[in-house]
Amino acid sequence: MDCLEGMRLIASGSIDLVITDPPFAIDFKAKRSNYNRTSSRVLNGYNEIPKQHYYTFSYQWMKQVMRLLKPSGSMYVFSGWTNLKDVLNALDDVGFVTVNHIIWKYQFGVYTRRRYVTSHYHCLYVCKDDSKRRFYPFGRFDAKDRDANGRSLHYRDKEDVWTINREYWNGDAKTPTKLPYEIIAKMLMYSSLPGDLVLDPFMGSGQVAIVCKMLKRHFLGFEIAKDYCEFALRRLKTGSYRIKHGQPALP
Ligand SMILES: C[S@@+](CC[C@H](N)C(=O)[O-])C[C@H]1O[C@@H](n2cnc3c(N)ncnc32)[C@H](O)[C@@H]1O
Repeated sequence: MDCLEGMRLIASGSIDLVITDPPFAIDFKAKRSNYNRTSSRVLNGYNEIPKQHYYTFSYQWMKQVMRLLKPSGSMYVFSGWTNLKDVLNALDDVGFVTVNHIIWKYQFGVYTRRRYVTSHYHCLYVCKDDSKRRFYPFGRFDAKDRDANGRSLHYRDKEDVWTINREYWNGDAKTPTKLPYEIIAKMLMYSSLPGDLVLDPFMGSGQVAIVCKMLKRHFLGFEIAKDYCEFALRRLKTGSYRIKHGQPALP
């Protein structure tokens, strides 16, 4: 269902963490053959927001998130650069405290002739009350963990530029935008514990919920496009969720 309606049904102060990648409000061609995908296999129904409504839409869903988060809660919001100012203004106007502005650098592969290739996303890490915010600095690496060159893995992992490759789909059906397992797992490990309740108001393929299930977090979410919602439910029901040699087996 529409998350603006759905979130009203959830009790105030019940959510530990929000990880979400809202619609972009760009002239996004969900069926275009990019990300190495075959467009005929991309599901129909992706719901986009007109650009002129983007600030109001962002403000409305963020206001609901603010109500739902526990005082210790936090949120990660993805945004492309084109509508970043609406996202930043809405976050400020709703009253979120910005903790970090993370850059996600990914590989792409679109050829551009007259401009640079966009190969990053912005991710705003924000919270309700910074003095109560939970963060687990050793959620992924110990202080003594080193790479082959003796550099601190703990420090490197906590820098605010994250280089993480996109994943390509193996199965038949697919959605046009899917966050990689690795980026969601990283956020969950630094900002939540097993048993916490995580919300994604814009589920798409259900990737946040799937990684929550793999890492033993509870999850709630909304998706307005029926085909995407059913696809996410199928993935959640049939997935095997094994992590083999550090590589997740994603449904
Ligand atoms: C960028 S995608 C999310 C991708 C997702 N993070 C993943 O990894 O697959 C945004 C999704 O929000 C959905 N959406 C747009 N408006 C919505 C609304 N008001 N309520 C719920 N879902 C909505 C779109 O249909 C789309 O699937």
